[in-house]
Parts: sequence; structure tokens; C-alpha cells
Amino acid sequence: MYRGNAELLGLFSIDETAWGNVDAEAKEELEMAASEDSEEAIDHGILVANLGLRLSEELGFDNNFCSEIAKAGIVHDIGKLQISSLLYGRKEGVLRIEEIKYVRRHPTLGYNYLKEKNIGTEDFRNIILHHHENYDGSGYPDNIKGDLIPVGSRILRICDVYAALVSERPYRAAFDKNASMELMIDEVKNFDMNFFLAFMRIVHADGFKDIDDYIKRCNSKVHVKSKRKL
Ligand SMILES: [Fe+2]
Repeated sequence: MYRGNAELLGLFSIDETAWGNVDAEAKEELEMAASEDSEEAIDHGILVANLGLRLSEELGFDNNFCSEIAKAGIVHDIGKLQISSLLYGRKEGVLRIEEIKYVRRHPTLGYNYLKEKNIGTEDFRNIILHHHENYDGSGYPDNIKGDLIPVGSRILRICDVYAALVSERPYRAAFDKNASMELMIDEVKNFDMNFFLAFMRIVHADGFKDIDDYIKRCNSKVHVKSKRKL
């Protein structure tokens, strides 16, 4: 399994300066919440990275491209960490309108953050910027459709949705593999059909077992369970 590299994982560390003059108790709470958020974000990033790597290999892309996809998978949601303080304390599954607005900014925030830190090429950052675009043009931030969406973003879109469905969430249990694939078929308009067909092949291949095991390990982590009791 691909696990990222120090440069990319370092982006998930806590940014002390962002919290200003909070008192010690509040800071401790924020630190705990932030480190749980980072851990979940890294687990999710590693899963998307490995799915992306498998899918791009299955599609026959060269090694260089496949490794760019793996790296993009690790950091695709890095923009979410910058808005996570706005989402702390959220216990229900339904996001409020203003939260949805912020969440929808995360691809742009991620792109800007990587640019500021001088990470990746422009092509690499564009994969992150467009990872929520849908094939039919109904996604965000730019509502682009079809082949106008970068290839890497089309790959990550599929992997990201699958990773989310098979993972435990504070507000719902994980879906199993078959239920997840059925839900994705219902929403297939969002995906590049050829890429989705290739994804179906890898998910049902024998070689997928290490990824299934990784998903199981992530779902059994204590913090995921403790959040679900809230
Ligand atoms: Fe995302």
C-alpha cells in the first residue's frame, strides 16, 4: 500500500497560529479535535491514493502519472482542514447551509494552499481543484463537464465517493462493498463511464484484498466509534 511521503503528510500537521489567543482548556479541546480530524483526513487520503493508484494502473497510464495520482489522493481534501474549525462540534449528519457553502470551497482552498506552499505542478494542483466536478457538469467549483475535467480529477472523483461510502461516519455506519457499488451505479452520471467500468473491475479483483483490509482497520479505530456515540 502507498502511504504518502513526509512532505505531503507534513501538510496535515496542526497550524498553531490559526487559533489566535484561545485559553488553555479550549486549546486542548481544539488540539484533540484537530488531531482526530488530521488522522481521519490522512486515513481517507491514503485510501483514495491507493484506489487512485490501482485505477490509473488499470487504465494503463504510465508510472509517472500513476504516482502523481497517488500523491493527489493523499492531499485532495487538504482544503477541508482549513475550514474544519468551522465544523467542530457538528454532531448531526445534516450540514447547515452556511457549512455547505464552506465545504464547497475546500477544493479551491486546497489548490490555493498547495500553490502557496509551492507543492506540485500546476497540473497536479488542478487535479485537486476539480476533484468534485461531475461528468455531467453538476459538480463544483466550476461546473465543467466531460473531457474538460482533468483526467486525474475524474479518477479521484470515483475513488473519493467509494472511499466515503465504505467508511464509518459519525452519523452513519459504513456501507459494504456491494451496497457502495450499487449506490455509485445510481449516480453514474457523475463519473466518466470508462473509468467507472475499470473501477468495477479492480474492486472485484483478488488483488483488492489489501485495500479491503485497510478499510476494515480504519473503520475499527476507536475515535470513529467514540464519535458515533455522540
Ligand atoms: Fe473533497
